[in-house]
Amino acid sequence: MENVKREFEEELKSVKNFEELKQLKAAYLGKKGKLTSLFKKLKGLSEGEKKEFGRKINELKEHFERLLEEKSKEIFEAIKRESIESEAIDITLPARGINFGSLHPITKTIMEIEDIFRSMGFGVEVGPEIELDLFNFELLNIPKEHPARDMQDTFYINDNVVLRTHTSPTQIRVMKRQKPPVMFISPGRVYRRDSDITHSPMFHQVEGLLVDKNIRFSDLKCILTGFLKLFFGDVKVRFRPSYFPFTEPSAEVDIGCIICGGKGCRVCSNTGFLEVLGCGMVHPNVLINGGYDPENYTGLAFGLGVERFAMLKYGIDNIKLFFENDLRFLEQFSYHKGRLL
Ligand code: PHE
Repeated sequence: MENVKREFEEELKSVKNFEELKQLKAAYLGKKGKLTSLFKKLKGLSEGEKKEFGRKINELKEHFERLLEEKSKEIFEAIKRESIESEAIDITLPARGINFGSLHPITKTIMEIEDIFRSMGFGVEVGPEIELDLFNFELLNIPKEHPARDMQDTFYINDNVVLRTHTSPTQIRVMKRQKPPVMFISPGRVYRRDSDITHSPMFHQVEGLLVDKNIRFSDLKCILTGFLKLFFGDVKVRFRPSYFPFTEPSAEVDIGCIICGGKGCRVCSNTGFLEVLGCGMVHPNVLINGGYDPENYTGLAFGLGVERFAMLKYGIDNIKLFFENDLRFLEQFSYHKGRLL
């Protein structure tokens, strides 16, 4: 009995899992187990010895069972500890942070342009994207044979309706419903059949119109020079004679190239200047078409492409980036003048 006890206690020490524990239990307490076979020896003993031996052997059995129970708890605790350790979460890792949404760079650019013109006293008007040929062309003094009306440039919905090719029809719409003076800008989408790295079939323009008594070309120069310096910083501004059917005289406005600082580069085609705006004094025919008397009123008008402004300001070299909605691109515009938008 003493030997069986010692052997059992020795073997128990090396038990590491439930499987081994089960085997040990079977080896001692099972049908053919070492302790079970000791019970068989009872038969050959005298009545007195039987009682003594029987009691001892039962005590040993209880002892084994207790030890097995303890070991079982020990193994269970060890398994629990192990899984807690392996599934532990490292709470010292820094948190991932919150992703804030951001304004699209085109929206941001329009807001910035609006801010500047609002500060000068301009209101903001909007016009429809699906526009009558009459407003998009005819009343803006663009005759039937004008190349801008070519199907290559204009999306026609039918003979009389187009997707507006510029924001200038808003000039007519506002003049027709409002007496002079008028002073507003009008941002919005425009459409032309054109697509490459600087042209997209849908893009944005901001139109400007100011009609009042005694509006002169010097007002146009002052407003646009001021606007460009506020938007781009301290840049050179140059007015160049040009032609638009709805303004006379007309001009295009260039800024000193902000990429090369005027030395000449790929972006400015080595001219040192970048064209950014079309403008002019409102053509008398357009004033008449809007219901204004050109004898008493004069006006200035301008139009700019928002994508071009955004590309120059943020150094973006492909217009498609604005429309692909790649978050890696868009997330770079989360901050606006140091504040979260
Ligand atoms: N509408 C012209 C364009 O799309 C821009 C412009 C607007 C020019 C107003 C002069 C005056 O190119």
